[in-house]
Order: sequence, then structure tokens, then C-alpha cells
Amino acid sequence: RIAGPCSLVIFGVTGDLSKKKLLPAIYDLANRGLLPPSFGLTGFGRRDWSNEAFADFVKECVETHCRTPFRESTWNNLAKGIRFVQGTFDDKAAFERLSQTVQELDRDRGTRGNHAFYMSVPPSAFPIVSKQLADSGLAKSSEDAWRRVIIEKPFGHDLESAKELDRVVSEVFDPNSVFRIDHYLGKETVQNMLALRFANSMFEPIWNANYVDHVQITMAEDIGIGGRAGYYDGIGAARDVIQNHLLQLMALTAMEEPVSFAASDLTAEKTKVLSAVRLPNDLSANTARGQYAAGWQGSEQVCGYLEETGIDKSSTTETYAAIRLDVDTRRWAGVPFYLRTGKRLGKRVTEIAVVFKRAPHLPFEQTAVRELGNNAIVIRVQPNEGVTIRFGAKVPGATAMEVRDVSMDFSYGRSFTENLPEAYERLILDVLLGEPPLFPTTKEVELSWQILDPIEEYWAGLGQPQPYRSGTWGPGEADEMLAREGRHWRMP
Ligand code: BG6
Repeated sequence: RIAGPCSLVIFGVTGDLSKKKLLPAIYDLANRGLLPPSFGLTGFGRRDWSNEAFADFVKECVETHCRTPFRESTWNNLAKGIRFVQGTFDDKAAFERLSQTVQELDRDRGTRGNHAFYMSVPPSAFPIVSKQLADSGLAKSSEDAWRRVIIEKPFGHDLESAKELDRVVSEVFDPNSVFRIDHYLGKETVQNMLALRFANSMFEPIWNANYVDHVQITMAEDIGIGGRAGYYDGIGAARDVIQNHLLQLMALTAMEEPVSFAASDLTAEKTKVLSAVRLPNDLSANTARGQYAAGWQGSEQVCGYLEETGIDKSSTTETYAAIRLDVDTRRWAGVPFYLRTGKRLGKRVTEIAVVFKRAPHLPFEQTAVRELGNNAIVIRVQPNEGVTIRFGAKVPGATAMEVRDVSMDFSYGRSFTENLPEAYERLILDVLLGEPPLFPTTKEVELSWQILDPIEEYWAGLGQPQPYRSGTWGPGEADEMLAREGRHWRMP
């Protein structure tokens, strides 16, 4: 579907997210013919830029990061609707200028009063920006023109702050005009979890505690914190990605079939999972934290977290986190979900591995099955997106029977000619279309904090996380956590 006439205003438009993801995604949507000819793009920021200077900035970002081929004709049409408003968030006059600018776009580009506001700014700026939008009459939808707000994570740093943030935003915007971005939900492979589970008949019958031994959800990154010390320090790996991305992946893996893919039905099922999550009684044995030390990333020598620019030398922020969670439902009784994430690990990979129990009886000699592991279905979220099924097969030609693990692979690259769109393309388009299924609700956000808060509280009393060498798979503590239960982490 193509979005109707509208305009998008970005706060924090010169930030990294906007440069690398948002602006290129807008161009790619235009290039794929999914934006209306009547589209306006307004940047709001401190720089003393003319509309033309801002358009040059957008063009540079687009040329560097867009996924579709750069076409002058797409660009020329998009550029006609590009505007810049200079100002700071506390400057009332700047918001009046913003109001005039979007009204001019309504007139000149035909955007018809439909405006989305993208808050690519720290949460501390939400209250002031929301209030200014309200005071300048930009926040409320009317019968024939919609207003929507897009909020980037973090949605607070614990349950209390998340509730407060929500209160501030809901004072200004109608609840159904608020779209919280969890960009993992915009990834094709994440949505494919719904297709894999609910469009097929062969996976669902075994997707439960009768057959599944455990589930491992891994989000490993090879990068460090880059220039994000200000955001990351004091936040750490669990708040940064477990509270949102990994718990959403877990909810999609564990949920029951929704009645439909309408937002309310999908949310209802995810919410049930998050409400049924149980924390381990013994957090010391079932959680692990680490902090990267110096090491090698490929052929590059890299510094440790404490040596990164802007990081306090005694920081106790974790850059690696692993936790065990249980889901108290009939389907998942006794099946642990292990979630792990880390920066500066061996490689960049996100995957969901559903690991099955061993066959109840193996009619082979011990030596024949020593290279047979557990069967597994692995959803490769990124990179090399696809699905792998691991199972045992007879080694050909051996005189004695020998069974070894093999895999069957589906990969997007080989099976489809269509490109995988960037998550932000899908999500921005959904906001402009007013389609909320891929956005977490307030309830989901709050339940996720409710899960994480006791763990954070426990960790806060522990001091320094265990160091791990950059380029390895994290701290020994995490391996011991699984080894105690007779399991081990996959090496994707
Ligand atoms: C963000 C986190 O939400 O996701 C970052 O704040 C992380 O720390 C990023 O690097 C990873 O996103 P992706 O899409 O590259 O896996």
C-alpha cells in the first residue's frame, strides 16, 4: 500500500540514526513508489541551515546509505518537499515557525494537514518537545487530518520512568497516535517467525515443551559502543537491547496463534507471554554479566570498554548480558529461554535457536552417535537471513553406521529475488499508513521493564562485571550458567 498525502518532521535530524537509517529509508520508500507525490520532509535542529543546505545534507546521507539505486528523478521530487526549521527545543518561536512550515507544505505540496513527528531525541527531551507541539497546535488530530508521534527507544530506564514518559506523551497525543519503535519488529526475518509458525503445519506440533529442550536467543555484535558513550554508560546491554528487542523476539517465539494479524490480536498474544515470564529464583546462577576488555576484532586491535572515550574508568556498566527466563504456560512449562547479547563478540549475528530434546531412544552404538547433537531450528535474523534446520544424517560409506549433524538451509538471498527492505522503511511506512501491529504497546513496554527491573537491581549490588577479551564469545560466567544445566551456547 502507498501512504496518502502527509509530511514527516524529524527532531534530532543530524543524529546518527537519522543520517544512517531514517533519511535513507525515506528515500528508499520514495524510490520504491511507496510515498505519495504529496510528501513533505522537515528537519528541525540547531544548525543555521537553509532549506537547500538541509536538502544537501539529506542527499549526502541518502547517497551514502540508501539501499535502492540512486535516481535523480526520485530525488528531485522528494527534494521539492524538503524544509528545515532552525531552533532549539525550548524556543517557542521556532515551533511557531515549524507550524507555519508544515502548513505551507499542506498548501504547496498538498500534504493535507497529516503530520507525523519523529522523536529521534533522548527521552529527557520528550516532555519539552511534546509540550511545544501541543502549544503550537500541532499535536492533536482532527476529523480530516491526522497527527502521529514516533518515539525511539529507550522508553525509560525502568518501570517507573517508563510510566512517567508515557504519562507525559499521553497528555499531548491520543494513545492510538503514539508509535513506539522497536526496529527489530520491522525486520523481515522477525516477521517471518509468524509465517514460519502459523503458515505451516510441520513446525507447530513440535513447538512446545514435549519436544523442545530449550530456546536460545542471541544478539551478538562485533562493534563496540562507538561514539555512544553518553547514551550507553549507565544503561548497559540488558536495558539497551534485552528489554526491547530480545524480549520481543522471545514473545514472538513463544506466543500462541493470534486470531488475526490485527494489532490488538497480535499484541494480546505477545502480552500473554510477557505476563507469563517467570524470573529464576537464583539470579546469581541464572544471569551473567560481562564487560569487554581489549582484544582483536578481526585484524584490528581494539581497546577495552573502560578505555573508550567518555567512559568512566570505574564504570560497572555491562556490555554483555545473559539471562534465563521461564514462561509459565502449558506450552512452555520447564523449557528455559536463554537470552544473551553482547558488544565486541566474535561476530555480528542475531538468531533464535529452538533446540529439541534428544530422541528418546537411539538404537545405535555409542560411537555411532557421538557427533550427533540436538536437533534444532534456527531462525537467522541477521546476517545471511534465513532458517536452518539441524538434524543427524548417516555418514556415507563408513563401514560402521555413523550419524553426524547436518543442516538444511533456507536463505532469503537464494530463494527470493525481492530485496530485503531495511526495518525502518517498513516501520516508517506503517506509521504513515496508520498501521500499528509492529509497534510495542505501553503494556508490553511496562511488562518488559517489570521483567528486567529485579535483575538490574540485583546486578547493581554486584560491582564490576566479569571482563571478556574483545573478539571472543563473552565471559566465562555465561558458559558456566548453561553448563550447570548440562547445556552449552551455540557458536553461530
Ligand atoms: C539498537 C541498540 O537498538 O540496536 C544498539 O541501541 C545496537 O546498541 C542496535 O547496536 C543493533 O541494531 P541492528 O539492527 O544493527 O542489529
